[in-house]
Amino acid sequence: MLPPAPSIPTPLHLVEWMRRPYEFFSRCQREVGDYFRLRLPGLGEITVVAAPEGVKEVFSLAPDEGHAGKANAVLKPFLGERSLLLLDGPPHQRHRKLMTPAFHGERMASYGTSMLQTASDVIDGMPLGRVFPAHGPLQELTLRVILRTVFGVASGPRFRELMGLLGESLEIIAWPVMLFPFMQRDLGGWSPWGRFLALSARVDTLLQQEIEEARGPGGAGREDILAMLVQARDEAGNPLSDQELKEELVTLLVAGHETTATALTWALRWVLPDRELCERLREEAEACAPGGALSAERVARSELLDGVTREALRRIPVIPVVGRVMQRPLELGGYELPVGHLVAPSIYLVHHHPALYPEPERFHPDRYRTFRPAAWEFIPFGGGFRRCIGAAFAMYEMKLVLASIFHRLHLQLAPGYAPRSRRRAITITPTQGLPVLLSSRRPAHRPS
Ligand code: HEM
Repeated sequence: MLPPAPSIPTPLHLVEWMRRPYEFFSRCQREVGDYFRLRLPGLGEITVVAAPEGVKEVFSLAPDEGHAGKANAVLKPFLGERSLLLLDGPPHQRHRKLMTPAFHGERMASYGTSMLQTASDVIDGMPLGRVFPAHGPLQELTLRVILRTVFGVASGPRFRELMGLLGESLEIIAWPVMLFPFMQRDLGGWSPWGRFLALSARVDTLLQQEIEEARGPGGAGREDILAMLVQARDEAGNPLSDQELKEELVTLLVAGHETTATALTWALRWVLPDRELCERLREEAEACAPGGALSAERVARSELLDGVTREALRRIPVIPVVGRVMQRPLELGGYELPVGHLVAPSIYLVHHHPALYPEPERFHPDRYRTFRPAAWEFIPFGGGFRRCIGAAFAMYEMKLVLASIFHRLHLQLAPGYAPRSRRRAITITPTQGLPVLLSSRRPAHRPS
């Protein structure tokens, strides 16, 4: 037997899922319980899971028992079929093994300097004394970080062209309706899909040049992720093909850019109205900059920055759910899910479970001093063998950017702004990109 469905008529499931997923999920949970069934066109019936013990079981599934690639099929037109997000079974395991070393914790230290430098450059460009949406510069920041650390491009004409092309294509695919196949029709350069395809063709050419450079004599001393990926070999001694490399580069960009920018925007949404917390963050940033410049190592060890980052990812997760398509029957919470059924842990509902997080609506970065959630109790990055490959990268970047902001800026939410959430294609963001006012900026530290 499948879990019960909420009383809201089935045709409205998709509308509410797209419009206000968190309010909708909470309503379903209140009405039906920790397991409820929805029906979405194209995906069929879905069981949403809010119980941490149910999430634990889903994340314990073996690679041949639950397929995430099938659950992510809606992303195929944007990423290609060889993307880590789309693959399942042995091809997924092969790609994951080849890509994992570039994201190991100890690799992070080598990305810290470029993350801090990029944050400083973007902070210098923020307009002083007038209201602007914080999401914009944060998107620029995370895009630059990916270009530098993943693609190994930091300046020059190719950097500028890639920034422009990628910025525009990412805006097109952030539009929620683009997820529907009826919008994915090439009606020439004036149609959004036609424009997206034209931009993608040019990006493909530039990425091919990047791959060839990374493979050439200049690639040997490089520390970026692409330089590592071109060298990686599987057990049979084979590298990723050029097409596989290009699709993985685009995947890392799409999966790692908007998500991190949005998570940072949410962090500001919670911190800025809290004067005491802003003051604590300023003091903390000062303590992380003993010689005047921020030390990435100190920032990474800061308990307060860690708590703020975690709490922002908990309070409004950037991605509403993760999915697995069952490859064997699964008994979950007293229900029986058949082969082919989509089971979807709800990140938001787990993060608002009162048994785990007392006063779940409160933004409380100090709660992690006494509470270390288990892997299935804090799930902004999903879990199990499909857990986000960039989780450590994203947490590290978020802490460095927040430290940079509170070290140099006095920001506040725009007067009269009442934050709510809205959906971009796969992420949930603050409305209007979070309008903020920058009242003062300290100059960047220049070593004497
Ligand atoms: C705050 C930022 C981020 C959030 C909230 C986030 C969240 C997620 C989630 C929920 C998943 C699905 C996990 C699952 O199915 O269990 C995922 C997968 C993935 N993420 Fe992230 N992510 C973030 C940043 C990044 C970054 C910075 C990168 C890389 C540069 C990245 C690359 C990926 C990739 C490649 C996958 C697919 C993993 C697989 O299927 O094996 N993400 N992410």
